[in-house]
Amino acid sequence: MRFFVTGGTGFIGGHLVERLVASGHEVTALVRSPHKAERLRELGVTLVPGDLSVFAEPGTTLEPVDVVVHLAGVVTAPDAATYEAINFGAVRDLVACLERQDWTPRRLVFASSLAAAGPSPADRAWTEADTLAPVEPYGEAKARAEAVCAAASFPTTSFRPPPVLGGGDPAFLPVFALASRGLGFRVGGPAQRISWIGVDDLVAAIVAMSEDTHEGHRIYFTTHEQVIDLDELWAGVSRAFGHRVRVIRVPGPVMSGLSTVASVVLPLVGRPNPLDAKMVAQMRAPAFVCTSAALTADLGWQAQVGLDETLERTLAGYRERGWL
Ligand SMILES: NC(=O)c1ccc[n+]([C@@H]2O[C@H](COP(=O)([O-])OP(=O)(O)OC[C@H]3O[C@@H](n4cnc5c(N)ncnc54)[C@H](OP(=O)(O)O)[C@@H]3O)[C@@H](O)[C@H]2O)c1
Repeated sequence: MRFFVTGGTGFIGGHLVERLVASGHEVTALVRSPHKAERLRELGVTLVPGDLSVFAEPGTTLEPVDVVVHLAGVVTAPDAATYEAINFGAVRDLVACLERQDWTPRRLVFASSLAAAGPSPADRAWTEADTLAPVEPYGEAKARAEAVCAAASFPTTSFRPPPVLGGGDPAFLPVFALASRGLGFRVGGPAQRISWIGVDDLVAAIVAMSEDTHEGHRIYFTTHEQVIDLDELWAGVSRAFGHRVRVIRVPGPVMSGLSTVASVVLPLVGRPNPLDAKMVAQMRAPAFVCTSAALTADLGWQAQVGLDETLERTLAGYRERGWL
């Protein structure tokens, strides 16, 4: 099949493009940085230079493809307006741009997030039947973008991953960097319960959703069915390193205070703040748990790679890239 991918230079996109090319698919990617696109060029991907603003230009024409996979987005942004512009505005513009073309994609597959659903109830996992209740601007923007996809004139699938683990993920690097020094941290009180997914399993889910021939709009949580708490996550990271990790429990209000200080200091030295208000809101929730039962029932996909192997692959990926 022919794919048009945004976010191909990112963590999930890099893994997806490798898999698509290895399976014999033709891939075109929107890229804004020639340096970051070097790996895609080596893989034989057709590169379209530009950033997401191209979709807002009325004259933009795109070569026909079967499936568009929209992964580009911001995971850490300096303010709510950036989440809104990139994670909602660019999706609205992409859908409108595709509707202006003289061809129609068989499907748009859009990376939403579990954050669009918000924290889950204490006693059960979110399903697609639940009403979205995001608690921070990242999740709010993703929820609004899903609504745009669901109103498109062609078939779409919005998928909602929980935290994604795998080699090359900048978001989890601070966790592994701390653990390499024998330290970990979490918000105090009962350990937060979370869903999670390994990037190889997520890529398999994206491929399955891309091959879906259903005519209408779909929404799926894309998760491993094993629910863990943060103490189990740190224990797994500790096993991957083969040394003890001492987990410090930081009271919630202290975590919020640290986030405020970091949001002032880090921009002064030109660094993004990984502990932004969005991250703290997510960390202070009691649970972020979902199920992929619907995706398994509809398309037969199920996550295969267990937590320990996923964490080992993640650590190996950081080491291969020289990040740790
Ligand atoms: N990783 C997770 O745990 C997770 C969980 C749930 C949902 N998601 C969603 O999955 C998607 C991919 O996440 P990821 O972890 O792969 O993120 P990532 O590693 O930060 O990659 C983001 C990608 O988006 C591109 N991008 C960002 N702003 C852009 C713009 N204005 N114009 C063009 N390209 C732009 C980046 O391009 P450059 O390389 O040029 O910067 C990069 O290719 C995101 O939409 C994210 O919200 C991720």
